[in-house]
Amino acid sequence: MGRTFLESSSLENADVAVTGGSGFVGRNLVAALADIGKSVVVVDLAPPSPELAALPGVRHMRADVRDYGETLLALRNVDTVFHLAGNASGTLSVEYPRFDFQVNGLGTCNVGNACVELGVRRLVYLSSAIVYGTPQTCPITEEHPIRPFLPYGASKLSGELTLRSLHEAIGLPVVIGRSFVIYGPGEDPRTAGGEVSQFLRWQLNELPIPVVGDIDRKTRDFIHVADLCAALITLADAGTAGEIYNLGSGTEVSMRELADAVAAATGRPAQLQADTSQLEDSFRLVADISKIRDIGFRPSVALDKALKELTDRLGAFPELPSTTAVFRRERVEQL
Ligand SMILES: NC(=O)c1ccc[n+]([C@@H]2O[C@H](COP(=O)([O-])OP(=O)(O)OC[C@H]3O[C@@H](n4cnc5c(N)ncnc54)[C@H](O)[C@@H]3O)[C@@H](O)[C@H]2O)c1
Repeated sequence: MGRTFLESSSLENADVAVTGGSGFVGRNLVAALADIGKSVVVVDLAPPSPELAALPGVRHMRADVRDYGETLLALRNVDTVFHLAGNASGTLSVEYPRFDFQVNGLGTCNVGNACVELGVRRLVYLSSAIVYGTPQTCPITEEHPIRPFLPYGASKLSGELTLRSLHEAIGLPVVIGRSFVIYGPGEDPRTAGGEVSQFLRWQLNELPIPVVGDIDRKTRDFIHVADLCAALITLADAGTAGEIYNLGSGTEVSMRELADAVAAATGRPAQLQADTSQLEDSFRLVADISKIRDIGFRPSVALDKALKELTDRLGAFPELPSTTAVFRRERVEQL
């Protein structure tokens, strides 16, 4: 049996590349990889934060994944690639679908092609549960029908299909993770669409929390970014090439339950301001994580404990979220 990802640490060359390593999820993954002794190339248009750049073994290669030459150059000498770079905003994808497709569709094709050309051992692609569209069952398994309702969902799906077809045609060793809603330290309030960060920021500003959709019927599966990073490393280590795995906590949380947890973490009752004019969003979105459990992943971060830590980290009156919902019907109708 070959060495596992965790064992095959070579510090002479960079052994891992993280595209999008300067972003919310990426910077947490880079820190987690550095922590287990990996040397990591951050492949991103933006430089990593000074704290991240100061970690032993971490360096930055500026590259635009829409440019094949730059992507190829940035991924030389790596054993494993985690592909996270891209547009992560559903709202932005509605406003700029061509931009969204160029980054998520063409960019992912470039990364896949470069991995084939360079012969990387493993490519892990971070896709999204957005590809399922409106859930028809709860919890959702990987066999659930695919019907994205946002350009973002279509572009992430296009990335998946391109990489899987490269696997089928020429054996690209890709494993795909479809993440549910990620939360944790380092989210940018200007782009973060997840309810955990949003609810907490409104509450810490002592303002009513706007809730889009039905407070009780709308449920989500929130996965802490530390668990998400552990899941991505599990995929690199033990995932089967060509396969897709749901990445979530497997726990269903309604908007009311989240607000109650936010109230408990901040020690103050939460006031909710329901916006029921948009009910398209009021579905239950929960992951069946049996498949990734079977290869050893166990979510370990409890929402209430993580909320307490985030409360301490954000402090009083943090920057407010710029957007209240991922899916905005009126924008779609304007087009
Ligand atoms: N945040 C979530 O809840 C969530 C859920 C499911 C999937 N994802 C996926 O995870 C990935 C990362 O999401 P995030 O929340 O960290 O987003 P983010 O916006 O914080 O980070 C994205 C990073 O990609 C970089 N980037 C963008 N375009 C690039 C380009 N053309 N070339 C090189 N780098 C580029 C950005 O500079 C940024 O550092 C995305 O692919 C997203 O689709 C996120």
